[in-house]
Amino acid sequence: MKRIVVLSGAGMSAESGVSTFRDSNGLWHNHRIEEVATPAAWENNPKLVLEFYNQRRKQLFEVEPNAGHKALVKLEEKFNVQIITQNVDDLHERAGSTNVLHLHGELKKARSTLDPTLVYTLDHWELNWGDKCEKGSQLRPHIVWFGESVPLIGEAVNIISGADVVLVIGTSMVVYPAAGLIGYAADAIPKYYIDPKAFHVSGISKLTAIREKAGSAVPRLVEELLAGGER
Ligand code: APR
Repeated sequence: MKRIVVLSGAGMSAESGVSTFRDSNGLWHNHRIEEVATPAAWENNPKLVLEFYNQRRKQLFEVEPNAGHKALVKLEEKFNVQIITQNVDDLHERAGSTNVLHLHGELKKARSTLDPTLVYTLDHWELNWGDKCEKGSQLRPHIVWFGESVPLIGEAVNIISGADVVLVIGTSMVVYPAAGLIGYAADAIPKYYIDPKAFHVSGISKLTAIREKAGSAVPRLVEELLAGGER
């Protein structure tokens, strides 16, 4: 089965009502996201950081996967689909995608501040100060903060290096190392970049920019791929 690798960003979830990072000029309650989602913010004001993620997690319980998420599930009928997402929401999984790698962590998970191998799935939206792991240390959001390493980047490079087709959907491609992944795809394979602001990515061959929203462009492209009509 041919392997289709999807690299998705916040634009993938925009039509589900989840705000992107840079369309909302990167602010949350007048805090710059880069100032809230960092180890320093956690050190200085952990309750603000917990509240930031509680608000986003609360919204997650109120939104649904959109037509773009659902179309990617349909792609699994004929292809080995591997999704590498920068998104911390679970909309790909809730749509039914079976192979999702979260580069920047997962909103619905929390982890121990003492032992990072202790990761817990949250079944409610609040993670509060005083919520502790089994070893008694405070739980933190299971999110890769700005300035932290991206533990799964090596695995993501291996996945995209073996792709037969790459779909880049709804990412401004400004945050590394995720933004550099497209450079590991083989020159000869077809690549599609779906984003209303899709731009030419220099040095990337066989890239088709589709300047449209994911909710309409992804279902159409999926139909084409299923019909065997790679552009
Ligand atoms: N369909 C497709 N793309 C869309 C849509 C849509 N309906 N709406 C917006 N977009 C595009 C925007 O044009 C933009 O290029 O989605 C992109 C979102 O870019 P960002 O907000 O920068 O989000 P992303 O690229 O995922 O950010 C990467 O930065 O803040 C960190 O860790 C965070 O994972 C995030 C990373």
